[in-house]
Amino acid sequence: MDLMTPDRMADYRKLLGKNLTNALNEQHGTFELYTLAKKVLFQTICTWSGINLGQLTEQEIDALTDDQVAMFEGVNSASDYLNGVIGRKKAEKWAQELLQEAREHPLDKDRNLALYAFATAKDTKDNLLPLETAAVELLNIIRPTVAITVWVALMGRILFNKTEVYQKLANNFVELQDSFIEELRRYYPFFPMIPATSIQDVEIDGYLIPKDSWVVLDIYGTNHDARSMENADSFKVDRFVGKTKQISYDEEYEMIAQGGRDFRQMHRCAGEWITLHTLRVFSDKLVNDYTFSVPKQDWTIPMNQFPTYPQSKVLLFKE
Ligand code: HEM
Repeated sequence: MDLMTPDRMADYRKLLGKNLTNALNEQHGTFELYTLAKKVLFQTICTWSGINLGQLTEQEIDALTDDQVAMFEGVNSASDYLNGVIGRKKAEKWAQELLQEAREHPLDKDRNLALYAFATAKDTKDNLLPLETAAVELLNIIRPTVAITVWVALMGRILFNKTEVYQKLANNFVELQDSFIEELRRYYPFFPMIPATSIQDVEIDGYLIPKDSWVVLDIYGTNHDARSMENADSFKVDRFVGKTKQISYDEEYEMIAQGGRDFRQMHRCAGEWITLHTLRVFSDKLVNDYTFSVPKQDWTIPMNQFPTYPQSKVLLFKE
């Protein structure tokens, strides 16, 4: 969480805006929003973290990006799983080399960059973290940021398949943008549940959960529960107007799309703010700065795979 200061969030937003503008400017004809997003996000989070990709060819950068994607896509079939394991091994080796290099060439001034923060992080006995551990921590920043691609694709679906949402948002962008983003995180089943094991007997609302039992927090179900959500199955752009700041900065349980409770203490995603900034930049560019036509495609979101996103990966056409 120490990496997620307001200054560093502003750096991230600026970098992403620049990279996304460049990528969209270069795009002519039909392209997959999913593929564009994963490249832009990988490039952005690497630069933000202090990783220099300048010496690499485009093919090498694509291969590194795909290792990250393999890790979060590796859950649907045996071959996906195998790809995920290979991607993880390659990504860990890459991250270890970067960290080693950062240890050998430290920065002269602390700039709160993830690469150097993990390169110099110490354990409770004041020893540098083993390279393997530091690499996992660094990848815990890179991989999930690239995974926001899935939410970008889901954003593409709601904007370009259901034009009334696009119109409402475009007509009143400043007031609706953050509410649109919270509704997107609530509505779509990208990260549908969190499994865990209970480490002791615990009673919750009169239910005994014995030690060692598997517990699943049903995120999708909770976010679509008619007892707490009016018209839970409709996408209402203005559902969260006036509440967005509390939801992602103060409230602990109001929105559990990325876990809940306190950011520093409990099961709450450390990257929630990066996610919000990412979705802000993408929604702004897609709605306000560019015009696309939308080729015929398969918008189906399979409900039996995880993560899930539209089959055609959101095809857009730009002049
Ligand atoms: C793509 C959208 C994302 C979703 C849906 C998501 C979801 C989650 C959830 C549900 C947890 C809690 C897991 C648990 O405690 O059992 C979590 C934890 C975490 N997330 Fe995310 N996340 C996302 C993006 C990110 C990003 C962009 C970053 C980093 C920049 C990130 C970094 C982390 C870390 C480091 C933790 C572990 C926190 C801890 O246990 O101390 N996540 N995430």
